[in-house]
Amino acid sequence: MKQRIYPARRFSGKIKLPGDKSISHRALMIGAIAEGTTEIANLNSGADVHSTISCLRKLGVKIENENGRTFVHGRGLNGLVRPTGALHVGNSGTTIRLLSGILAGQEFSTNITGDDSIQKRPMARIAQPLRKMGAQIDAVNDLAPLAIKGGRLTPINYKLPVASAQVKSCLLLAGLYPEGVTKVLEPVKSRDHTERMLAVFGATIKKKGSGVCVKRPANLRGQKISIPGDLSSAAFFIAAAVLVKGSELIIENVGINPTRTAFLDLLGEMGANLQMRNIKEVNNEPVADIHVTSSTLKSVKLSADTIPNLIDEIPILAILATQADGVTKICGAQELRHKESDRLRSITLNLKKMCAQIEETSDGLIITGPLPLKASELDSFLDHRIAMSFAIAGLIADRETVINNAECADVSCPGFYQELARLTGA
Ligand code: S3P
Repeated sequence: MKQRIYPARRFSGKIKLPGDKSISHRALMIGAIAEGTTEIANLNSGADVHSTISCLRKLGVKIENENGRTFVHGRGLNGLVRPTGALHVGNSGTTIRLLSGILAGQEFSTNITGDDSIQKRPMARIAQPLRKMGAQIDAVNDLAPLAIKGGRLTPINYKLPVASAQVKSCLLLAGLYPEGVTKVLEPVKSRDHTERMLAVFGATIKKKGSGVCVKRPANLRGQKISIPGDLSSAAFFIAAAVLVKGSELIIENVGINPTRTAFLDLLGEMGANLQMRNIKEVNNEPVADIHVTSSTLKSVKLSADTIPNLIDEIPILAILATQADGVTKICGAQELRHKESDRLRSITLNLKKMCAQIEETSDGLIITGPLPLKASELDSFLDHRIAMSFAIAGLIADRETVINNAECADVSCPGFYQELARLTGA
């Protein structure tokens, strides 16, 4: 699909966003291995979460939708059944990595794979530690498809070479199966939704700094879960309100987990007018309404330590940096080369087409602003966050911007372009 984006004169109003994608995957997977029913409100309805639902159904889990709620009929830690045929995760890295942890704890063999992008993304990072726990993982060059033969795991004490919530979560979920304590240590603490959700379902989780321990629970118990709006989707709308002059936007009920909010802190440092109101805690996750108005921006220095806490927001941060006064240097972000696309490359190619001043380095980007963006025909590189970032860039370009393969926004934020049009008054 070709999406046309026009320069915006305003970006104002109120919006509620689809449920957080990361938390949605976890509610479904942990609900599936809990006992009893888990009732989920505001589950993300994008393609990635749908991939998790379809994999779980193939593993024998009954999942129903009724009146906007999702009911997961849990089968207990050992109640999943051997699927007929391979599990297909589509484009979803979170599905393949987290589910592999659960599959490693099952007594049967499973094949799991995904689309072309998934088949290129590194899986050694989960395969190696799962093998250390005793699972048999067969994969050519440690890339998907993965053949997983689990059962009889032993706990490990594992130091992650790179901070990754997907890898950490994979190991914590596998750590629910063996007798004894599994400990995972990260170089920098990544998003902790798995730890928080497991605790809600009754698991004993111990956290110390960037380390976390889990042990086999007697059981996990089904829960009533309400998923907050996705901060990573909110980031695009926040950026639009900051960039389009005269805007005033309220985003209701957004997750503000401190392992995810580095983007908000950074925007504050850049001079954005942001406020969080109505802060509360829901299912062990902090939630707030975010109020934002347009402002002029200055460049910031990003330390490599903050990258894991704004990993998904770097594409939209790059767009903001083109409008900030001075040089914004992003370094220590080599993980971006292993996302749905090589994001450092995708951002650079598109921003160069828009005549921004950008330099790609091996582990980051150097962007000098402010420079007006020129409209162009751009590609999404089949990457939802690239499509949405450049839709926002299109709002401040000089005329019509075209984004090819724009439909991939549905991976995490269905309805994205409609909401964009509504808030610009188009
Ligand atoms: C996610 C973790 C992050 C993030 C991804 C979702 C998760 O990946 O980029 O969109 O839900 O755990 P890494 O943990 O591999 O950095």
